[in-house]
Amino acid sequence: MIKPDGVQRGLVSDSRPQSLEPLSIFCLKLISVDRSFAERHYSDLSAKPFFSGLVDYIISGPVVAMVWEGKNVVTTGRKIIGATNPAESAPGTIRGDFAIDIGRNVIHGSDSVESGRKEIALWFPEGPVAWSSSVHPWIYEN
Ligand code: CMP
Repeated sequence: MIKPDGVQRGLVSDSRPQSLEPLSIFCLKLISVDRSFAERHYSDLSAKPFFSGLVDYIISGPVVAMVWEGKNVVTTGRKIIGATNPAESAPGTIRGDFAIDIGRNVIHGSDSVESGRKEIALWFPEGPVAWSSSVHPWIYEN
């Protein structure tokens, strides 16, 4: 998910799997979510002190929800995205190149296949509809 700061700063096209990487976008949509949706998305973090600020921020503007596909998509995707804290994310990663601080880190990526499945079901209840005709055999990490 490209977060509100990524959308507002015009970083949508910079925040995609790069053409040299073995991942591609399966589907995407621009969407604004409400508080209860954001709380469900980040429910694992509900006990954290930054939870309410994180939810306020995610509902502050539209986001781009995406499903990426490719071999080992979760592991590879997280490498492309970079570490959560931009102070620790490497140059060449999306966060390393563009993120400002840990609370405004441009992009969220699923941290496991299981959370990827849950997040796809939450963000694409209508089903992730492929935006191109070249449907690949993998959506999840195998
Ligand atoms: P994300 O990948 O969306 O997963 C959870 C988010 O919580 C994370 O990126 C950060 O944006 C945010 N987050 C994690 N740690 C902190 C923190 N210490 N302070 C503020 N936000 C945080």
